[in-house]
Amino acid sequence: MEKKLEADVVFSCGEDNYLPDADVWLVIDVLRATTVMTRWFELGGIELYPVKTPDDARALVQELRARGSSPLLMGEVNGLPPEGFDLGNSPVELNYELIQEHYCGVMSTTNGTVALCQAASSGRPVLAASLRNYAACLDYAMTLGKRIGLLCSGRKRWPSWEDTLCAGAIVDELGTKGEVYMTDSARIALTMWQNRGSNLVECVKKSNHALYLGQIGFDEDIKFCCECDASTVVPMLTAEEGRNILRSVSGSARPYPRVREAIAPEARITPPETLKKPDPFEELLGYTRKKDDR
Ligand code: MLT
Repeated sequence: MEKKLEADVVFSCGEDNYLPDADVWLVIDVLRATTVMTRWFELGGIELYPVKTPDDARALVQELRARGSSPLLMGEVNGLPPEGFDLGNSPVELNYELIQEHYCGVMSTTNGTVALCQAASSGRPVLAASLRNYAACLDYAMTLGKRIGLLCSGRKRWPSWEDTLCAGAIVDELGTKGEVYMTDSARIALTMWQNRGSNLVECVKKSNHALYLGQIGFDEDIKFCCECDASTVVPMLTAEEGRNILRSVSGSARPYPRVREAIAPEARITPPETLKKPDPFEELLGYTRKKDDR
């Protein structure tokens, strides 16, 4: 008998680090880590190393520089860039030129990168999902299995309003693909999403973290993070030499090649004009084709 689709939601990465079994994990941190990760690959980023603490990030940057890379050091503590970081964690502060100079980045945030590292320990495929790219992530996840795990980063080990909303959006989207067995937590998230009202930005702005981000001057980030299904980028976590690395498996200006050599070194810095402003339709078509040829 055909296995049913399943959806399970873990409300925060602080729940004693326990994760139920799933075929694939989508890690969610709407404000703002997984939105930043999506934006990074949209603008042509090639690699992004998520780590748990600012000191881990500083140490990894030194290691990568010693190998000849020039990674951007990015992230936040209490929403702001820590001492010595090149960038904070604002998706609207990322730009094409910056990323073309540093196609590689190292990122540490309070909850989002911690949740990614937790999901990596499950040994299952891990994708970075946000309101911006959730439909693309789900399409890709469904090529990996039917039991979809949604790990909300939450806020300092507690559930967060916006991450749970996004989990509900994904459960809602999954429901358009076939019959879904939902755990109670998935049903709670779906109910929240279905009752979000007509203005998503206003709904997300009710969250504790959104209120805080507004107080420290990041109102524009909240609007950007609420641009639903605006991207076909799918950041996927792989492990190399004991390190977690995010790469785009589809939808970015330069979809991650099956073979690294497919991107000539010079192309990483100054790609052809055609890659600079990907035609959204072309990009989506490319994403669709990629999905079909798996
Ligand atoms: C997080 O990790 O919870 C967020 O990325 C925090 C932020 O960006 O303000």
